[in-house]
Amino acid sequence: MNPTISRTDREPLSDVLIDAATAAARYAPSVLNTQPWRWRVHPDRLELFAERSRQLNAIDSDGRLLTLSCGAVLHHARIALAAQGWTAAVFRTPGTSTSGLLAVLHDFDDAAITPKTQQLAHAMRTRHTDRRPLSEQPLAPAVVRAIAACADSDVRVHVLTAGQVLDLSAAASRAGAVLAADPPASAELEYWTSRTMGDGVGLALQLLPERAAQTTVPNRGFGHPGTLPIGGGHDRAATYVLLYGDEDDPHRWLKAGETLSAVWLAATALNVSVLPLSDVVTVPATREALRRMLTALDHPYLTLRLGIADPPSGPPRRTPRLPAAQLVEAVPPAPDTAPPPHDHQPPPQVGDVMPNASTTRPGRLDPGHRAM
Ligand SMILES: Cc1cc2nc3c(=O)[nH]c(=O)nc-3n(C[C@H](O)[C@H](O)[C@H](O)COP(=O)(O)O)c2cc1C
Repeated sequence: MNPTISRTDREPLSDVLIDAATAAARYAPSVLNTQPWRWRVHPDRLELFAERSRQLNAIDSDGRLLTLSCGAVLHHARIALAAQGWTAAVFRTPGTSTSGLLAVLHDFDDAAITPKTQQLAHAMRTRHTDRRPLSEQPLAPAVVRAIAACADSDVRVHVLTAGQVLDLSAAASRAGAVLAADPPASAELEYWTSRTMGDGVGLALQLLPERAAQTTVPNRGFGHPGTLPIGGGHDRAATYVLLYGDEDDPHRWLKAGETLSAVWLAATALNVSVLPLSDVVTVPATREALRRMLTALDHPYLTLRLGIADPPSGPPRRTPRLPAAQLVEAVPPAPDTAPPPHDHQPPPQVGDVMPNASTTRPGRLDPGHRAM
């Protein structure tokens, strides 16, 4: 049996790029639903920028959660492209450009649309955050292995031992207390968690638990209760994993966001619920506690709770998004006004938007940049 599905009617690339950027912006997860990204769609490339006006300056002052969120939207765009039969090269340049440019997708090429691609594209549309306790059914080891296989050499997945889950629990409680005692962080949390569903950004009461769940590892505190019914379950059957790697810089945070997206979509396709627990990585002391679970050279990027959602409860409400017009800008093709030969400049290249390597840290082209 041929596992590929042939593509017949081909949309123009520029339309495909706009659709991919729009789908990614519409479906990707982001810390506190800040959607801290902006796409600029050129006829031949997609540029991803950080939107610093939606950065959590008190909670996430170094921008690691912003960059992780942007990594997730970058990976979502690649999945949306793959579902239309396109593959792209990726140039990553986080932290090097004052414009906020994080990455460029370019050099688009044909790719087979496989059932796996279609499955991931479907998972992209159905994935959601579930903050409620889990069922009592543990994950099968083969399922955990399949999810952990989304790791690569830059961002790996560590499955916590029972003892490490207790350490995580202590660290998460401490991180919550540190942030609650920090007035700017509390004010920021209040701002982003007191939204209405119509705002399209941040979190509304309907998405926040009505009370803290009776779990071993507490979720981020939201400062106030919401109205999401959470039942009486626990997290006894949960598997906790840590995304980590051997560098702690914006390039790796971006890649960690891509891995987060890959893990989350793979988990969704396997009916596994994912809950990121991020305040523990933003507080330096508790990040250090996570680091002790790894080897001396490694750094934690994000902790995730994995498990089977409580079946009777059904999925929670969808978290709203900003209108695409606020997040996706289409740049029209340059007018065809060729200068005389002696003035001729080469056409705009991806490199044109890259910073000067002599004054800033250069961007990096990932050798495995076509792999999903
Ligand atoms: C980097 C990152 C960190 C996050 N941290 C948390 C967290 O600590 N607690 C939580 O309940 N949700 C967390 N989330 C989930 C977001 O709140 C969620 O993605 C967003 O509200 C959009 O909702 P959706 O995932 O259902 O589409 C995080 C998401 C990302 C990408």
